[in-house]
Amino acid sequence: MYGRELKMVKKVVMAYSGGLDTSVAVQWLKNLYDCEVIAMVGDVGQKEDLEPVREKALKTGAEKAYVEDLTEEFVTDYVYPTLKASALYEGKYLLGTAIARPVLAKRLCEIAEKEGADAIAHGCTGKGNDQVRFELTVKSLMPHLKIIAPWREWDLKSREDCIKYAEDNNIPVPVSKDKPFSIDRNLWHSSYEGGVLEDPYFEPEDDMFLMTDSPEKAPDEPCYLELEFEQGIPIKVDGEKFEPVPMLEKLNDIAGKHGIGRIDIVENRLLGMKSRGVYETPGGTLLFTAKNELEYLVLDKDTMHFKETVSQKYAELVYNGLWFTKLKDSLDAFVDETQKNVTGKVKLKLYKGSVQIAGRTSPYSLYNEELATFEEDEVYDQKDAEGFINLFGLSAMNQGIIERKKKN
Ligand code: ARG
Repeated sequence: MYGRELKMVKKVVMAYSGGLDTSVAVQWLKNLYDCEVIAMVGDVGQKEDLEPVREKALKTGAEKAYVEDLTEEFVTDYVYPTLKASALYEGKYLLGTAIARPVLAKRLCEIAEKEGADAIAHGCTGKGNDQVRFELTVKSLMPHLKIIAPWREWDLKSREDCIKYAEDNNIPVPVSKDKPFSIDRNLWHSSYEGGVLEDPYFEPEDDMFLMTDSPEKAPDEPCYLELEFEQGIPIKVDGEKFEPVPMLEKLNDIAGKHGIGRIDIVENRLLGMKSRGVYETPGGTLLFTAKNELEYLVLDKDTMHFKETVSQKYAELVYNGLWFTKLKDSLDAFVDETQKNVTGKVKLKLYKGSVQIAGRTSPYSLYNEELATFEEDEVYDQKDAEGFINLFGLSAMNQGIIERKKKN
């Protein structure tokens, strides 16, 4: 059975990063399956020069290498829906890695289709969430493709094993310095996990962070920033219009200088174990804060409260890799409806790692000063409150009567 399966793979599209393990994986696939390997390097804003990575893929044995700019698609089709949904995993994590996997996996599928490949491969380990996200995307979009996860199959257990395999197979070993933790970076965030961070009591060194300065080093003067949204999507910064990618880059830059957007979390992985992660999402933290403030202004109570439940479910789906599913589409439809009036401006105050709301305004604001005022007004008759409280409190009063009876 296994032998027959092996023979069936003729062409594999592999998610390639240029690191040691994906380089080894290219050769390993060829040795084991005697197949053609096409490398796909996706640019999701990891700020790396990807041309050398293409070269490396070819030198490592890939027949062909694609370098794909996915930045715009990433922001508009993955970041924005997550922002509109206010999806936050376990109350803290803005899902930066979770949303980058489906965009990469979707492009793998597109290339597999174009190339007539019969399998895709990825370099995720068998312990994390990323393997699930890659594979569920492939199962949703191209269910007939075989999926190969070398880390779950080969007997290479460590970096040393990989180096040995590389040397034995004449694969050039990348000279990159080994960091004492694993990094995953894109336009939305940077994540740090593993290695020295596995001890949840260990505080990371400040030089670990790639996108933010420490709050201590941030300017002593606060900075005010005005963000403008249209139907839940950011369109202007301080009155100036921006395209999605440059907008996020600008916000990352400003928030990064003010030390904003770092979190440290012990999270529940899909596969059951807890893991410690340190993430920075500078621009995203500004966007989430501002857009949520606008929602306080324009959403009615019931929609807003129901959306809180939806946000949580949405975050869980995205975290678990269920991006391309019916439930996710259905939640998107609900969220899009809620965003129709999420238009307006928010003024933020950035200061040494914190972001505070300084003001908000919207043409669709439901906030009615006349209704809210403590002063005398014309639109509200205070006498109505008595009848309302009597009926609203009927059940509480009934319970009170019984409890009093029990005591006597
Ligand atoms: N724990 C986070 C998540 O599951 C971050 C994963 C980082 N992945 C990585 N390959 N370094 O979304």
